[in-house]
Amino acid sequence: MKVIRFSDLCAQGKARGQRVFIRADLNVPQDDAGHITEDTRIRASVPCIEMALQAGAAVMVTSHLGRPTEGAFNPEDSLAPVAARLAELLGRPVPLITNWVDGVQVEPGAVVLLENCRVNVGEKKNNEALARKLAALCDIFVHDAFGTAHRAEGTTYGIAQFAPMACAGPLLAAEIDAISQALANPKRPLAAIVAGSKVSTKLTILQSLAKNVDQLIVGGGIANTFMLAAGLPIGKSLAEADLVDEARAVLAAMKARGAEVPIPTDVVVAKTFAADAPATVKAATDVADDDLILDIGPQTAARLAAQLREAGTIVWNGPVGVFEFDAFAHGTETIARAIAASSAFSIAGGGDTLAAIAKYGIEKEVGYISTGGGAFLEVLEGKTLPAFEILQRRAAA
Ligand code: 3PG
Repeated sequence: MKVIRFSDLCAQGKARGQRVFIRADLNVPQDDAGHITEDTRIRASVPCIEMALQAGAAVMVTSHLGRPTEGAFNPEDSLAPVAARLAELLGRPVPLITNWVDGVQVEPGAVVLLENCRVNVGEKKNNEALARKLAALCDIFVHDAFGTAHRAEGTTYGIAQFAPMACAGPLLAAEIDAISQALANPKRPLAAIVAGSKVSTKLTILQSLAKNVDQLIVGGGIANTFMLAAGLPIGKSLAEADLVDEARAVLAAMKARGAEVPIPTDVVVAKTFAADAPATVKAATDVADDDLILDIGPQTAARLAAQLREAGTIVWNGPVGVFEFDAFAHGTETIARAIAASSAFSIAGGGDTLAAIAKYGIEKEVGYISTGGGAFLEVLEGKTLPAFEILQRRAAA
């Protein structure tokens, strides 16, 4: 993917003394008191800001936080807690600027954080007049917000159309590189794990991956629908009977390419959905009418782990069982540890997947952990994200 990289501009001295506007994704979870509960995205945004400061730029950073109403600023929409955390991480003051659309004062070598960009009227619909004002604030626009790269909004798309220069920050570039390595140019076999509660939310991902991957491992409620499609009993497990035909089409597409969707041969079931519900391992053919499938069985987990150890590339989105309950966590833990032990290049993304990675402490063993939620899923669907489209177009101009 050919885009201008901010790191190249900095290395060439082109950012010195320039007004640099960085769109970061600092949309982090907070508790009721407004304390940040997980700061991965802030930490992931620091290298770009440091790069700009070291290059001698006058640095403006903004992000959305949540989904506020445009034109109506409420205290809970404020990036103030993010500014405080950023100041700690950068070891320097990070003033928070409000009402910034018509002009920002910042000196070369300094950084300011511009208050929640989604309170600006016209941001979400990418209003052209707003986009032109945003572009006028800077000499260089840096898109470093992979988590928001699937949105065509004022600060993610419009500004990139009109800024004198538009480029990819190091986080966005790293995500592009990791995704291309995993999906466009993979070392084979390429295995994808797609799990979650519903086929309907990930059908386009399954269909897209079915054209490319060598093994498509399904888990959770998605696997239940595939088991139905394969003619297996699933008791009262979560599934979408109306999508069985689509699941069959995915199975057929994979088979036609000589690729595989490994259907579970054993499962862990319970009579109720509860952490303390007694867990029973059963052959997939023996699931009773009142059983709930809450995990893959040990035989299936061992078979999948062996395949993952042999893989050249692994894409992971979704835990294969209810890993929050210890009795139903074995399948997800086995998959996680197999990915960690595999020499394959692995890329993982999505909230539940990141929680599983944290639970088993395998962060360092995963090749790349994406900061994207919805953006990561749209990439798996095979979509070109607006951020990449506009940055490519600007690089070609
Ligand atoms: C996310 O949390 O996935 C991103 O920050 C995008 O947020 P949005 O779905 O509100 O656009």
